[in-house]
Amino acid sequence: MLDAEVGVDRGRLAALTAREVEGFAAVRPRSRALAGRARGSLLGGVPMTWMMRWAGPHPVFLAEAKGARVVDVDGHEYVDLCLGDSGAMAGHAPEPVVRAVAARAAAGITAMLPTEDAAWAGEELARRFGLPRWQFTLSATDANRFAIRMCRALTRRPKILVFNGCYHGTVDETFATLREDGSVGVRAGNVGPPVDPALTTKVVELNDLEALEAALAPGDVACVLAEPALTNIGIVLPAPGFHESLRELTRRTGTLLVIDETHTFSAGPGGYTAAHRLEPDVLTIGKAIGGGVPVGAFGVTAELAERALAQPDADYEDAGGIGGTLAGNALSLAAVRATLGEVLTDEAFAGMIRLGQRLAEGVASAIASAGVPWHVTRLGARAEYRFAPQPPRDGGESAAAGDVELERFLHLYALNRGVLITPFHNMALVSPATTAMDIDLHTEVFGTALGELV
Ligand SMILES: Cc1ncc(COP(=O)(O)O)c(C=O)c1O
Repeated sequence: MLDAEVGVDRGRLAALTAREVEGFAAVRPRSRALAGRARGSLLGGVPMTWMMRWAGPHPVFLAEAKGARVVDVDGHEYVDLCLGDSGAMAGHAPEPVVRAVAARAAAGITAMLPTEDAAWAGEELARRFGLPRWQFTLSATDANRFAIRMCRALTRRPKILVFNGCYHGTVDETFATLREDGSVGVRAGNVGPPVDPALTTKVVELNDLEALEAALAPGDVACVLAEPALTNIGIVLPAPGFHESLRELTRRTGTLLVIDETHTFSAGPGGYTAAHRLEPDVLTIGKAIGGGVPVGAFGVTAELAERALAQPDADYEDAGGIGGTLAGNALSLAAVRATLGEVLTDEAFAGMIRLGQRLAEGVASAIASAGVPWHVTRLGARAEYRFAPQPPRDGGESAAAGDVELERFLHLYALNRGVLITPFHNMALVSPATTAMDIDLHTEVFGTALGELV
């Protein structure tokens, strides 16, 4: 039966998916065997439960990854446009990072002592993002958690505000959603929320300035935590003028502004913030900056840094709730230095963004040829298609344009033909190692999938 909303026959989609599942299983005996074995010792048969999300009947087990390519234990090679959901945006095993990490590993990995690389990394992040004082964590999640704590301590306000459809890592306060009646609720599937998120969090739709103004007016919000464009519910771009208004409203109400660049770093060497001259009080980032080595960071203004350290009742040196024994370790900072200094350089971004354009154009032309009511949105080196004719204006609209069955088919179809895209929605990302041929392979496979579907 034709589902007019997405322009696809559901029966045909189910039959094609069944064919792809069969094809997947037939040629991956080693992955299948490892998946069976891992189920004996790992929760869900995977080292972290979100790896259950891949589209096949079991995950593909990794043998090696180099540049923009991944090879599985059955010997299949893939063009990797998932890139570890941005953790490998620098490409897999980039030579300078491998060298720096090997040298640092041989010279001591973690000692709770700063290294010269730490100072270099702080200086480089300051140059790129415009904020002068930095801290390092092991993940973007931790960078966000610590940023929120710091903002609460500085403002003495209890709440934060996020945009509907956001994802900022596994930060309790951010697992909140906007219900239809305008109230705040627990995000679906949230595992063991500690408290009702309405106690800690306000949620408004991106681009809804009226709701934002009303939510900030009472003066009880410590910070707005925002991706400059949503990237975890498809890509939702801010409307023209939105960021100027967000900054004006936060300043007027004494609310701090935290910009999370973990994914929007794809917009350029200084992320969306530098590309659009944003002026956050705090900036958080993680994933890509370590070239695959776990690391996160947050930067603050000089004024905020001074105020934070001068607070007599905030313990930044011991058990104040900001920390992590291995945070700021020598190994991850050596990786940051090599990644930012030699791999994700200003020049590399220019090439990545050009290929991001090629990717989006390829997808758009396949959508147009098939005549399906879908669209593609791009953010620098990152692009994502979605099953609605127009780009959504907010997270709620974008959520409504998701389609689990279609996504599963398209991901599996691509996987079976040597292309990986992220298992969460339909994101594809370009690394400095990605080539035009890699992008064209994705376009061809996507076009063939659509051809079979409609
Ligand atoms: C915008 C954003 N912030 C933070 C995170 C958390 O990153 P991590 O899981 O590496 O802590 C993510 C993860 O997807 C993210 O998309």
